[in-house]
Amino acid sequence: MKVLGIDTSCDETAAAVTSDGRTILSNVVWSQVATHHPYGGVVPELASRKHMEKIVPVVEEALAIAGADSNGIDGVAVTCGPGLVGALLVGLSFAKAFAYARGLPLTGVNHLHGHIAAVYLEPDPPPFPFVALLASGGHTNLYYVAGPMDFEHMGQTRDDAAGEAFDKVAKLLGLGYPGGMVIDQLSQQGDPERIRFPRAFLDKTGFDFSFSGIKTAVARYVHSNKCDSTKIPDIAAGFQEAVVEVLVKKGIAAANAKGCRHLALVGGVASNHRLRELMKEAAKDAGIAIHIPSPELCTDNAAMIAAIGYHHLSKGKNLSPPSSPESRAGGRWRAGLDLDAYSKTSHSGRLGVVR
Ligand code: KG4
Ligand code: ZN
Repeated sequence: MKVLGIDTSCDETAAAVTSDGRTILSNVVWSQVATHHPYGGVVPELASRKHMEKIVPVVEEALAIAGADSNGIDGVAVTCGPGLVGALLVGLSFAKAFAYARGLPLTGVNHLHGHIAAVYLEPDPPPFPFVALLASGGHTNLYYVAGPMDFEHMGQTRDDAAGEAFDKVAKLLGLGYPGGMVIDQLSQQGDPERIRFPRAFLDKTGFDFSFSGIKTAVARYVHSNKCDSTKIPDIAAGFQEAVVEVLVKKGIAAANAKGCRHLALVGGVASNHRLRELMKEAAKDAGIAIHIPSPELCTDNAAMIAAIGYHHLSKGKNLSPPSSPESRAGGRWRAGLDLDAYSKTSHSGRLGVVR
């Protein structure tokens, strides 16, 4: 089954075609970084406008690379939430029209489940059940994954997401936006041991996170030490080390708590070199197999949306008709919530901006 996936949840216009939720036939991502860079963060209204401009050429390119005109597609999957509502609506409206005009089944998927499904596209995906640690710009969550569409929520951040902390610290160090990759690169020139920032483990046996304190600790350090630019690589490396240590320890502890020998690390932050390195080492010591998607499948993309969409569509979980009220965008979809749960709740007051 060839599925066209579409994601416009934040600042990337993405379309992809996968076969049977396993093989990537095309994966096109149009990044809006240049648009938002001057503002130091994503401007929601500009994001929506850029998605409107790019959605048609990006989908056309994804279909062309896959060698499939729209007749060669068996179904469409689109992100319904969470994300920026205006941005989500562009992808959702396009997908509804595309599917309706061609008589194709359409399914709406949770972006967070899509991030986890990125590991289904890897050559050696984890067997079920496994534990997934999702660390992105808007979320830091732990899940017990019992089946391709069976996600049990174990914990989440109580304040900032890990990627958000990277972005905020980069901003306060004057490194620009987006911050994760810059801190990752700069840390390679710094000493991670020179400055020790706090690690928030919260309740030692629980699986919640907190990353807002470390951002404040970095700000205090910068102000009280009158830092010049020569210290920035050490600050970046010390900050990164603290965030990575918490993610690694909680991820391994969650897998052990569930008796799982397989752990998936997904989301934009999973492309971080130090996190990938330390997670692999810790998993080896704990006798756990670690599964990390290639970097381009960690950050936002539509192949992961097509991958989870395949499982929806093969179970007949369609939006039928595509104009039904269930097919609405949900900016604040919580972790663990899927379309079924969402459609049973009141929609009023649920639309909002995640970050
Ligand atoms: O998953 P993603 O592309 O979008 C969301 O769904 O949020 O994640 C984006 C986040 C941003 O906060 C970005 O700074 C962070 O992932 N990120 C990184 C790296 N690459 C992207 N964080 C740390 N190290 C990286 N190499
Ligand atoms: Zn994402």
